[in-house]
Amino acid sequence: MPYKLIDAPLLTADQIRTRVYELAQAVESTTSEPLHLIAVLKGSIVFLADLIRAMRGPITLDFLAVSSYDANLSSGTVQLLKDIDTDIKDQSVVIIEDIVDTGLTLEYVQTLLRSKKPKTLQSVCLLSKPSRRQTKVAVDHVGFEIEDHFVVGYGLDYEQQYRHLPHISIVEVTSEQ
Ligand code: PRP
Repeated sequence: MPYKLIDAPLLTADQIRTRVYELAQAVESTTSEPLHLIAVLKGSIVFLADLIRAMRGPITLDFLAVSSYDANLSSGTVQLLKDIDTDIKDQSVVIIEDIVDTGLTLEYVQTLLRSKKPKTLQSVCLLSKPSRRQTKVAVDHVGFEIEDHFVVGYGLDYEQQYRHLPHISIVEVTSEQ
């Protein structure tokens, strides 16, 4: 599908840096216990890398992978591609996501992790599109609420491209080449 990347960033690298620092403080202020961060691959990796470097610790990390998007449309069904490697029973767990759109992915991940009996489970997401929500999923910490744009950069992709951009930009799918 033809598309164009809008030149002016929706969120600049400076805006993201400031907000990620605030999110790191907010997450750590919720408890004095060690935090076990679980990042949802792949989109969250850049956010995770900056978030943890703004944290005092102690923290530990794990990863899981799910798939719900077919091309760039939500299939409505979430599949687990890779489960976590660690036992999270009685741990203070934080889910790290890049974006909550329909909310179906985060809801699935929360249900999966709750079944493993963590002591606490909170979620931090850099971006949220409230207008797209299909489920009442709880997000404890949101970086930025955005309109219903397709966004790339800072870990987010369009057909696997643009994850490397230091800022977040809008992609417009066009009918022209
Ligand atoms: C994106 C994003 C979230 C999910 C949010 O993942 O990273 O995990 O979609 O969408 P939802 O709220 O509608 O469920 P994607 O499937 O594009 O994979 P990726 O992280 O590997 O890019």
